[in-house]
Amino acid sequence: MGKYNGADYQKNIEKQHSESVLTEEREYWWNEDYLELLSKRLNFDQCQKVADIGCGIGTMSFALSKFFPENTVIKGMDFEKGHIKKARQKSKKKSREHGNEFHFVEGDAMDIPFETDEMDLTFCQTLLIHVDQPTHVLEEMKRVTKNDGWIVAIEPNNLVHSLMFDNYAQTHFDIDDMMKIIEVRLRCEKGKRKLGLGFNSLGDALPDLFTQVGLEDIQVWISDKALSCIPPYDTREKRVRVAQLIDWLETGGGGGFNYDRDLWYFKAGGGKKADFDIYWNYVMMYKEKLLKQLIEQKYISAGGSLMYIVAGRVSK
Ligand SMILES: C[S@@+](CC[C@H](N)C(=O)[O-])C[C@H]1O[C@@H](n2cnc3c(N)ncnc32)[C@H](O)[C@@H]1O
Repeated sequence: MGKYNGADYQKNIEKQHSESVLTEEREYWWNEDYLELLSKRLNFDQCQKVADIGCGIGTMSFALSKFFPENTVIKGMDFEKGHIKKARQKSKKKSREHGNEFHFVEGDAMDIPFETDEMDLTFCQTLLIHVDQPTHVLEEMKRVTKNDGWIVAIEPNNLVHSLMFDNYAQTHFDIDDMMKIIEVRLRCEKGKRKLGLGFNSLGDALPDLFTQVGLEDIQVWISDKALSCIPPYDTREKRVRVAQLIDWLETGGGGGFNYDRDLWYFKAGGGKKADFDIYWNYVMMYKEKLLKQLIEQKYISAGGSLMYIVAGRVSK
């Protein structure tokens, strides 16, 4: 078995990925007033027990907690021991701030360690894009949720970024170059999926998956937050975002560039190394340019994204 074929390598890739994305930058993913609106649409005021599946270091549990009634019990679970440890460390302070009770436990989303019919609402954020069998996870989320409770999945379409422009100069694009880049990205996506590592753009398919597991009253919304980056970088949010981008570019983590990992996905998606290497040369040139712009505080981006919030009611 080659270096990039083993189950251990897959797990390691997932671990590295989640460690590099679970940073302060996530705390700026949502507009506060939008979360408040969601809390009204999803009857947070009627919840006493809530579950966060694939909770990472608890960022979304903490962000939503202020919209639940005081004393709501929020249980987060994740299969990474290190994430659970960090979530527990943060939870005391958060509990004092919002008066909620937090419990973070290790577990597999394929076999959620909560009781049947325990929760009033169960949610996940960017979990289903990482699992091989999202319907099984949704079935589990349904099992632990009471009749009439909401299941909420927050998942993106990440391929849309391939058709976005950072600035006006980029709008003079070359169609052939663009088609080659998009082909590589599509093959990487397909390959990742084939390797059993999930599908990065699963957000579009959530209503279909919700229907398949028998959820009812399905609602679909899109986050109104743009992760824009406009000089001068004079707010903490912008500085955190820029620092994160620089880190990804330099280390290859998160959305950054990692030759071995991306080639592995590309080949699994039916691509040839020679084609990948042409793409990679282009990527390296772009990376240097981007790093320079970020460091000189000249990088500008509207920061568009497509993050779905899909909710469905449990009917048992
Ligand atoms: C991109 S992170 C998102 C974390 C968190 N939901 C957030 O939005 O900040 C994906 C998380 O899912 C976890 N994960 C992936 N597959 C899992 C599974 N089968 N069971 C439990 N956790 C899983 C990872 O460990 C990681 O913490």
